[in-house]
Amino acid sequence: MDDGGRHLSAVMLTDIVGYTSLTQRDEAAALRLLEEHRRIVRPLLRDHAGREVKTIGDAFLVEFANALDAIRCAITIQKSLHERNSKISSSKIELRIGLHVGDVVQQSGDIYGDAVNIVSRVEPMAEPGGICVSGALYDQIRNKVDVSLVPLGAPALKNVEFPVPLYRVELPWMVTSLASKTPWVDRPIEQQSLNQALDRAAKGEGSVIVILGESGVGKTRLAEETIQSAERSGFRVLRGRAFPGELATPYAHWAEMVRELLDDAPPALLQRVGWSVAGEVAKITPAFAQKVGAPASHTAPTDPESARARFYEAVTEFFVNLSQDAPLLLFFDDLQWADATSVHLLEFVVRSVANHRMLLLATSQEPEAGGDSTLSEVYRYLGKNRLLTIVPLRRMDQAAVGALIQKTFGGGEISQEFSALVHERTGGNPFFVEEVLRSLVEEGSIYRTPDGVWERKEIQEIGIPKTVREVVKQRVNRLDEPTQSTLRIAAVLGVEFPFELLGEVAQIDEERLIEQLERLVRAGLLEESSRPTRLLSYHFPDPQIRQVLYGEMLSPRRVRYHRKAAEALERIAGKRREEFAGDLAVHFREGHDVAKAREYATLAAERWVKVYGFDDAERQYRTALELEEEAPDEKARAQILDGLGRVHYTLGRLDSAITEWEKAIQLYERAGDLQRAGGLCSWLSDVYRLHPELAPDRPQLVDEILEKGRSLLVRLPPSPELVRVYDTYGTRLAELNRPAEARSMAEKGIEVARSIGDRDAEMAVQGSLYQLLPLTEKDRMFDILNEGIQYFSQPGKEVPDQLFSSLSNLSFERLTTANDVADSLRLADEAIRVAQKARNRGWEVLGRCRRAMALLWRGDVQRAEEELQEARELRDLAPGSYDNRIERYSGSLAIARGQLERAARHFAQAGVSEGSSLFRYVVTDIAELHRQRGELTEAIRLLREAIRQERIPLAEVPANSAFHFFVSVRRFSMRSSSRPLSCGGRRKSRSSRVSSTGPRPV
Ligand SMILES: Nc1ncnc2c1ncn2[C@@H]1O[C@H](COP(=O)(O)OP(=O)(O)O)[C@@H](O)[C@H]1O
Ligand SMILES: [Mg+2]
Repeated sequence: MDDGGRHLSAVMLTDIVGYTSLTQRDEAAALRLLEEHRRIVRPLLRDHAGREVKTIGDAFLVEFANALDAIRCAITIQKSLHERNSKISSSKIELRIGLHVGDVVQQSGDIYGDAVNIVSRVEPMAEPGGICVSGALYDQIRNKVDVSLVPLGAPALKNVEFPVPLYRVELPWMVTSLASKTPWVDRPIEQQSLNQALDRAAKGEGSVIVILGESGVGKTRLAEETIQSAERSGFRVLRGRAFPGELATPYAHWAEMVRELLDDAPPALLQRVGWSVAGEVAKITPAFAQKVGAPASHTAPTDPESARARFYEAVTEFFVNLSQDAPLLLFFDDLQWADATSVHLLEFVVRSVANHRMLLLATSQEPEAGGDSTLSEVYRYLGKNRLLTIVPLRRMDQAAVGALIQKTFGGGEISQEFSALVHERTGGNPFFVEEVLRSLVEEGSIYRTPDGVWERKEIQEIGIPKTVREVVKQRVNRLDEPTQSTLRIAAVLGVEFPFELLGEVAQIDEERLIEQLERLVRAGLLEESSRPTRLLSYHFPDPQIRQVLYGEMLSPRRVRYHRKAAEALERIAGKRREEFAGDLAVHFREGHDVAKAREYATLAAERWVKVYGFDDAERQYRTALELEEEAPDEKARAQILDGLGRVHYTLGRLDSAITEWEKAIQLYERAGDLQRAGGLCSWLSDVYRLHPELAPDRPQLVDEILEKGRSLLVRLPPSPELVRVYDTYGTRLAELNRPAEARSMAEKGIEVARSIGDRDAEMAVQGSLYQLLPLTEKDRMFDILNEGIQYFSQPGKEVPDQLFSSLSNLSFERLTTANDVADSLRLADEAIRVAQKARNRGWEVLGRCRRAMALLWRGDVQRAEEELQEARELRDLAPGSYDNRIERYSGSLAIARGQLERAARHFAQAGVSEGSSLFRYVVTDIAELHRQRGELTEAIRLLREAIRQERIPLAEVPANSAFHFFVSVRRFSMRSSSRPLSCGGRRKSRSSRVSSTGPRPV
C-alpha cells in the first residue's frame, strides 16, 4: 500500500451511538467510554489484519485487504461489545458499523476516494449494535459467512450519484427476532372453518365471519393467516382497522379499504366498477372521484335520509361489482371500535354478500356484555338471520404455548416445566406469552450464547409477572429514561398518533425522536401505521400497552400533556381542523379546556352529519351538551340544540327535534341571535306543517311559528333565513289553497335572495315557484328550468335530482297535455345534454326514454326504437339504472308495432302485474293491448279499476299519476272512440306535490 497508489480495499467505519449527546451531558464519562471502546476494538482490528487508518472523534476508519476479513472483524467487534453490555445495566457502548468495498487512493497513510465517501453514508444506516454493508461488499461475502444478510433496498445516499443497495447483517444475539412477528402456531379448528368459508366465497357463496375473542388472543393474527391463503387463491384483499376512541375518521375501516384499492387497482378497473358510484364512494374517501375521473357527486341529495340510502346502495354496488373482477375479501380488524355509522353501512352491505364472491371477515372483542351498543344489536340481528357466522377464539392450551415458545426460540427443545410455567402465568393468551418472553430476554433470563443458541436460567431463578400490566411496566422501565418519557407522552396522544404530534408535544428534535421510535419499534412497543388516510403515524401494537402507561400517569401530568397535544394538533391540523375535530375535542376535554372541547365536539358532529353519520353526530352533540353544562354558554347551547334537532328530525324523532328546536329558538333570541332564531322557525314550522298530527288541537301553530320567524327576520337586514321563511310561507299558502298569495310570497323570496346575491337561496325558491305555476305559464316554467340548469351546471355545483326530474317531466307533460311533440323533443334533448354533462348515465337513460316516447307519439316507430336501443346500451354500462323503465317503454313500442306477445313479455320483465305499484304506469298500454286484441271490456275494466284503486278523487292524485290516467284515457278514448271517462281537472293537485322537506331546489 504505497503512497499515491490506487487499489481496491474493504473499508469499515464505526461510530458510537449517542456519543455526542453523552459528551454534552457528562464529558468525563464520555471520555472514559471512548477509551474503553478503543481498548476493546483495537486488538480485534489487529486480529483480522485491519489497518487503522485514523480515528475521527469517536469513529474508526479501517482498511482491510479483503471483504471477508472486514465482515468477520465487524461481527467480532459487535459480539464483544454485546458481551460487555449484557453484564452491565448502564454505560453501554453501542456501535454502528458500515462496510463497503471499492477503490481508494492512499496518501500519507490516509485514504481518499469514493469508497470512503460511500462507507460514511452506509454506516448511519446500521442499527445501534448492528452492521450495514453495501451491495459491493455483499457480493464478495455472500455464502461465505454464517450470518444472514437482509436486503434494505437501495436508498438514495447523500452525495452519491447512483443508488447503493444495502444489507443488514443479522447478528444472532440481537433480539430483534422477538420484536417482529412470532412464527405461526396452528389453530386447526378455527382455520378449518375459515378456509371453508373462503372456498365457498370463491365459488360465489359469500358470507360474513366474525372472529370473536378477548384482546391479545390472536384474532388479528388468525385473520392474517386466512388472508394469506386467500391471496394465494386469487382473492383481492382490502384491509381496514380502527382504534379505540377514534372519533375523527368517519368510516375508518372503509376509508382505508378504498384507499388501498386506489393505490393498487388498475385505473381501468376502477373506472369500470367505480364510475357510476364515484360520487357516493367519494363520501368515504374524497380522492376517489378524482381518481376515477368522475364528478364529485352526480346529484345533490334531496333529503338526508334518502341520500343515506342511496349512499349505502352505491357502496354495496361498488363492492359487488368489484367482486366480479376477482373474489373479494374485506377485512375489518377490531370491529368493536368502528363508529356506529360504519357498522350501519356494514349491516347494509352484508345483505348482498350471499350470492357473490365475497367474504367479509372481521375480528371483534365481545361487545359489552348485555350492552345495547350498535354492534351487539347488529350481531344479534345478523346472527338470528343467519347472515353471520361467529368463530370464537379461545386461549392456547399448554401444548400450543409450548409450540409458540419453541418456534420463537428457533426450534430447540423446550422443557415441559418451562412451558407449564409460562402457560400457567399467562393463561395461554399469546399476547401475554409474547410479552413475557420479550421481558425474559430483555432481563437476560433467556439469552443467546455467542453461537446464537438460546438458553435460559434455572427455572427457580425465573420470575414471571402475574399480569400483563406488570410485564408491560417492567419492560417499559428497562428503557432509558428519555425514551420512556416519550412513550408515556405517546400514550396520552392515543393508541394511534401522528409522528409530528409526538415531536411537538415531547419537544425533542427529530433525529432523537426517530432514534427513540426505532428503539420502541424494535422492542415491540410501537408499530408504524401504514394508514394513508391520515398523517404519518405510529400506534401501540396492542391497546393494553397504552392503557398501562396511561393508567400509571398522574393526572396533573396527563392534563398537561392533553392540553399540549390539543394545542399542537390544532396547529398541525391547520385547515384540516374539521378532520381532526373528534381528537381535538378529546384532548381539550382531558386538558380541561371545556369551551374548546365543546367547540370541537360540535364541529365533529357537524362533520358526521355531512357523511350521514347521524348516530355518531348525535353522540358528539350530546358530548357537546354535557360540556356546555360545565361551561355554560347560551349561544353555543343554542347551536348544539339546533344541530341535534336536525339530526333527530332526519332520524324521524320529531318529538325530540321539536323540543330541541323550541329551546334553541328561545336561546338564540336570548343571546340576541335573531337571525338564527328566525331561520330555525321555518324549520320548526315545516315539522308541524308536514305532521299536523303532532299538534292536532292547534292547526294555526304552523302559521304562528312562520309569522314569528318572518317578524323576527324582516326587521333585520335581508338574509338567506328570510328567503327561506318566504319560501316556506309560499308552500304553506299553496297548501291552504291560496295560490295567489303563495306566489307572491315566493316572488318576495326571490327578490330578497337577489338583493343579497344569494344564488343558492334564489334557486331554491325558484324551484318552489316552479311548482306553483300553472301549465299555462309555460314560458315562465321554461325560464326557471333554463336558469336552474345553467346555474347548477357551473363547475362546483351539482344539478339537483329534482331539477332533472322537473325537466324530464316537463318533456312528458308537453307531449301529453299540449300534444306538442316538438317542445317535448326539445326538452328531452335538453335533459340528455344535462345528463351527459353531469355524467349521470341513469339520467341519460331516462332522457332517451323520454325522447323515444315523443318519437313514438309522433308515429316515428323506427327512430323511437333506435333511441330506446341507445338507452339499453347505456343501461348495460350502468347496470341497475332504470331497467324497469326501459322494459316498460319497450313494451309500449312493441304495442305500437302490433307485437302483442312481445309487449306482454316486456311488461312481465318489468315486473308489472295488476296490483303491483308500477301497474299504474303501464295500465294505459296494457289497456291498449287489450283494445287491439278486441277485448274492449277488459280494457275499460282495467282503466276504471286503476282509477278506482287509487281510492282518491282524480283531482287530488299527485300530478304525475293523475296525469297518466288523464292522458291515457284521452288517448284511449280517441283511439277506441269509446265514451271518454270523465276525470276532472288536474291543476289543483300540483300543490300536493310540494311536500318535500328542507330546502327545495328547483
Ligand atoms: N397462533 C399464533 N401463532 C403465533 N403467534 C400468535 C398466534 N396468535 C397470536 N399470536 C401473536 O400474539 C400476539 C397477539 O395476537 P393478536 O392477533 O394481535 O391478538 P388480538 O387481535 O386478538 O388482540 C401477536 O403478536 C400475534 O402475532
Ligand atoms: Mg387485533
